[in-house]
Amino acid sequence: MDQPQKQPVIIGNWKMYKTIEEAVSFVNKLAPEIKESKAAVYLAVPYTAIKSVVEAVKGTSIVVGGQNMNDATQGAFTGEIAVRMLLDLGAHFVLLGHSERRRFFHEDDAFINRKVDRALTDGLQPILCVGETAEERDQGKTEEVLTRQLKECLNNIDPSRIDSLMIAYEPVWAIGTGKIATTEQAQAMHQFCRHWIQETYGPQASAQLKILYGGSVTPENAAEMLKQADIDGLLVGGASLSVESFSQIITSTS
Ligand code: 13P
Repeated sequence: MDQPQKQPVIIGNWKMYKTIEEAVSFVNKLAPEIKESKAAVYLAVPYTAIKSVVEAVKGTSIVVGGQNMNDATQGAFTGEIAVRMLLDLGAHFVLLGHSERRRFFHEDDAFINRKVDRALTDGLQPILCVGETAEERDQGKTEEVLTRQLKECLNNIDPSRIDSLMIAYEPVWAIGTGKIATTEQAQAMHQFCRHWIQETYGPQASAQLKILYGGSVTPENAAEMLKQADIDGLLVGGASLSVESFSQIITSTS
């Protein structure tokens, strides 16, 4: 059966790339390329470039956000950034629980849960990232890992707030490796996450919640991924760094 036309959400995660000048030049070139696109386009840019990129995208529909934040409102946390500081810069959303944060900076589910809560409370849209490692998949633990991450990262999040966030399924083995999940693998895990949301938060939340796929998305595979029933959007790393490939992804999917 044909799916009703959905508005895909395409998020570029620039990670630790681009100076202010590079970032502004990028969005100035990107905006005219994607003017006709129906996709909701988000960019998670380095903190240093948020304000300038927010200025540069004025008059377009591009939404700008951050890649991380602390769970405290303020305090003695050297090197950290608070929600109100991101809001100050004009950010609208924040990536939380990205596997690079979990792996390199030892963030655990409880910490990520406090951040999700803080972001929702203080008015920033969280994009919660979940996903299994290659080892966990090989051991047949993918569903167990996703259940644990969803359960713990969303612990005590009130059902009335759940549709303010998005979930990104990013299998760790597919990030930056060029080894994308098959559409069947991705769809199965998205369906699993949606089912978990339905069981936990009810059918309305599960119908409304956007679940994005991330991991080695390119202009060649983006459209096929988005055809899957439970894939509502894409979280793009490497291919979001060039205007050409990112605009191709956006225009090929909407
Ligand atoms: P790649 O698209 O480079 O695999 O990165 C995915 C990612 O981590 C997006 O958050």
